[in-house]
Amino acid sequence: MSLVPMRAILEATEKYNFAQGAFNVNAVAQAKAVVEVHEMFRSAAIIQGADLANAFMGGRTDFANGTTEDKIKGARNIANAVKKYAEDSPIPVALHLDHGKNIESCLAAMDGGYTSVMIDGSSLPYEDNVALTREVVKLAHPRGITVEGELGVLAGVEDHVFAATSTYTNPLTAYDFIKKTGVDALAISYGTQHGANKGKDTVIRKEIAIAIKEILRHENIFCALVSHGSSTVPQYIVKEINDLGGDIHGAYGIKKEQLKEVSKLGIAKINVDTDIRLAVTRNLREFFRDNPSMREDAYVGGIYALLQEKPAAFDPRVFFPPIMDTVMYGNIPSDSVAAVVEVIERGVKEAVGTLIVDFDSYGKAPLVEKVTLEEMAERYKKAGI
Ligand code: G3H
Ligand code: 13P
Ligand code: ZN
Repeated sequence: MSLVPMRAILEATEKYNFAQGAFNVNAVAQAKAVVEVHEMFRSAAIIQGADLANAFMGGRTDFANGTTEDKIKGARNIANAVKKYAEDSPIPVALHLDHGKNIESCLAAMDGGYTSVMIDGSSLPYEDNVALTREVVKLAHPRGITVEGELGVLAGVEDHVFAATSTYTNPLTAYDFIKKTGVDALAISYGTQHGANKGKDTVIRKEIAIAIKEILRHENIFCALVSHGSSTVPQYIVKEINDLGGDIHGAYGIKKEQLKEVSKLGIAKINVDTDIRLAVTRNLREFFRDNPSMREDAYVGGIYALLQEKPAAFDPRVFFPPIMDTVMYGNIPSDSVAAVVEVIERGVKEAVGTLIVDFDSYGKAPLVEKVTLEEMAERYKKAGI
């Protein structure tokens, strides 16, 4: 079926009280695995491309310096691929821009074929965040495209220093933000943090999600809450990476029990990137251990060299530059690349599959309304948002 606006999936999470994992990809070849594993579990799928991931998938190996042109190209590459995979799939699939930096990034995604965008104005002064987010909503909703905003700052937040940091999302401000902007989803800061080093005993401050949801119910406003920085950082994978020559330390994630709990308390979407990066890195290291002849291969030998050179790295974008045609278009120029793609896909499926079960989205695909972008645009128009 065609891609659905992300809002269709979010509405189902609210109606049937489950959470939907939202999984980041950094290569076209990874998106296929995300769709397939969701199919296997009869779950809808949210595939995310982050702003810089779009630059990378546009061919920019130094993605941190990606231009709007790179992002436009990358957004088109990943959207074309995901549309193709979704077309042949029985499950609803949404393609969402993760951490859109500015209007240009959001437009690059929307024009490329994304059905949902995040505008991350969380580092701006409050009123500027409201104005920027509102602007994106005004551009997206007439096209039926979903919008996620962010309020509160995630990085460096520690659960037990609530008053000292005060970067947690204030539920009253969240309500004001949602009302003023008309966003469909809101990323909140409540104790989680991006990356692999979240601290050993992170405690999610679930009361923040509960409070915001309660206010929204009283006011009869729909807005799905999003938990960013929610990777679980499986300890067995960290150990395996290190046993295979990696050098990753102090890596701890969010405990699954906490994510399961908040998934029943108003968190609708749970963002995961790091767990996928770790599983893919482990599989690449294992592949070259088990296939020594591949270390010199003309197509994939460069990946081995990068793994050797950067033992602390686990961002696949560090290792993928030798196979950019596969990253950008999913092309498989040799048997060796096919073998590497196979282990990349397996890594994605391991990380994503386990979380589909934990977040309880399995079996729920038929509960998601198959609404088109045009129909969604009409609904926004009628509701005046
Ligand atoms: O939430 C952030 C994602 O993990 C994407 O990371 O900005 O390095 O692409 P990135
Ligand atoms: P992790 O780094 O915990 O995977 O978080 C990913 C994320 O929030 C993407 O937006
Ligand atoms: Zn995030």
